[in-house]
Amino acid sequence: DWVMRDHVAEAVEAIRKQVGDEEVILGLSGGVDSSVAAALIHRAIGDQLTCVFVDHGLLRLNEGDMVMDMFAGKLHAKVIRVDAADLFLGKLAGVSEPEAKRKIIGGLFVDVFKAEAARIKQTHSRHVAWLAQGTIYPDVIESGGAKSKKAVTIKSHHNVGGLPEQLGLKLLEPLRDLFKDEVRELGVALGLPPEMVYRHPFPGPGLGVRILGEVKREYAELLRRADDIFIQELRNFRDEHTGKSWYDLTSQAFTVFLPVKSVGVMGDGRTYDYVVALRAVQTSDFMTADWAELPYALLKKVSSRIINEVRGINRVTYDVSSKPPATIEWE
Ligand code: XMP
Repeated sequence: DWVMRDHVAEAVEAIRKQVGDEEVILGLSGGVDSSVAAALIHRAIGDQLTCVFVDHGLLRLNEGDMVMDMFAGKLHAKVIRVDAADLFLGKLAGVSEPEAKRKIIGGLFVDVFKAEAARIKQTHSRHVAWLAQGTIYPDVIESGGAKSKKAVTIKSHHNVGGLPEQLGLKLLEPLRDLFKDEVRELGVALGLPPEMVYRHPFPGPGLGVRILGEVKREYAELLRRADDIFIQELRNFRDEHTGKSWYDLTSQAFTVFLPVKSVGVMGDGRTYDYVVALRAVQTSDFMTADWAELPYALLKKVSSRIINEVRGINRVTYDVSSKPPATIEWE
């Protein structure tokens, strides 16, 4: 629409003015905010932007390839994919405590990004002067109100603070004045696919907090396939009254890997395999959330598909806990 087109033109102009002929680095995660920031900055300055996509190996099925197809393939942006799965999985071996896992993943993420940014700074001929971040207005309020922060940290969040100073870069935050809904509209106006822009939130530590306890490559592979089936069916099933998909009727939905085995039967054999839990919630602010009353037909389809298609999982459960007292993620 009109208003958004004006906004794009204004934002593009502002970025060009601010950056001049210097270069910008941006950490692309595949999430909505960094994706929209990347598309906007790329629209403004093209090849003066280099995106760094750190793939920690804890992303969803095909997610890394989808990010590359979109940004490098369709938008022709400069994107460096850093394949760091072995590094992350190596450092996570033997670690099962949730906060310890979060700290390792967050710390490694910063290390890998910093190393890549430093390399870009040294090798590019033009002056690399900016670090772009997809900070949005609610993030600004949250971090500005440090005093109002709860005394007890329930979960340490995976985000990147203090990086611009450490890298000697100036901060470029073109989404700073926008609310989430506006960021999404902007993304659509920039030509990003609505499925990407209206995707459920995904935590920075990724599947690392959806595999309970120790993270193993085998667990991540099983989880990715099970979760993909759940999301496919949420998109397929529609509410008969509104016509909306259950993906759009829920605020967040995902699968959790439980590292316990239970007994099952398949054909005339006994199985002894892993369990997953499906989680789907409705919420307006993610501070409180209700578990979603998904149709039984949907749960039935997902369960039978996961058990039949993902060898190694023989039981599917549904999480009927609300927040509080449970949290949305299991770790
Ligand atoms: P909880 O589990 O605390 O989650 O009810 C609330 C919302 O925050 C997301 N979440 C994270 N997002 N980095 C993020 O970017 C994180 O470390 C992180 N931990 C939780 C969670 O997915 C939910 O939307």
